[in-house]
Amino acid sequence: MINYTDIGINTLLPHECTFLESFMYDEDYMSRPVAFGDEANVYIFERLAIKYRRYAMNLTNEIKAQQLMASVSDNFLPVYAYGENFIVMPWVAGTILEELNPSSDWLKQLASELAPAFVQAGVEPKDLHQGNVIIDYSGKAYVIDLSRYFIYSGTDSKYIPPLHEMEEHVYNSLEA
Ligand SMILES: Nc1ncnc2c1ncn2[C@@H]1O[C@H](COP(=O)(O)OP(=O)(O)OP(=O)(O)O)[C@@H](O)[C@H]1O
Ligand SMILES: [Mg+2]
Repeated sequence: MINYTDIGINTLLPHECTFLESFMYDEDYMSRPVAFGDEANVYIFERLAIKYRRYAMNLTNEIKAQQLMASVSDNFLPVYAYGENFIVMPWVAGTILEELNPSSDWLKQLASELAPAFVQAGVEPKDLHQGNVIIDYSGKAYVIDLSRYFIYSGTDSKYIPPLHEMEEHVYNSLEA
């Protein structure tokens, strides 16, 4: 069963939807992920990335955090669709930040670009590090892997850190 988000339903093309309905039954395709994470295989289909969990895991938090962040900042990727164990988003052609050996000044700049979005969305980044940032060929940064992010809600909201603290937190995460 596939669920299409508002963005996906307005964005995905018919042949992409057809592909998403059936890719997991294609053994040959499933045996050829383009990337491996600790718990997920990542597949590519034309302009789409499909993050597929190898183990059963509740994806609700990851989907919610990613949609929230994408709604306030274009440094995050919209979720187009999801199934029980996968999430579909745009594929970013680029390089993992870690491989680029960024300077501290560059990281500071990125932290100041990202921090306001976390404050605005009321989301605390967890597991944010250089391995979870992709830089595309125009130099734009995309943050991936939001499964462990903490979403402030209700009475929690008063604990959302102020911008300068968030900026420091983001910088420390990226620099570590
Ligand atoms: N949208 C994307 N575009 C391009 N490459 C991606 C995309 N999403 C993931 N990747 C590639 O797949 C790898 C693993 O993805 P990700 O970091 O989301 O999984 P993970 O570390 O296994 O996640 P988790 O920590 O939630 O188990 C990334 O390092 C990256 O190389
Ligand atoms: Mg990762």
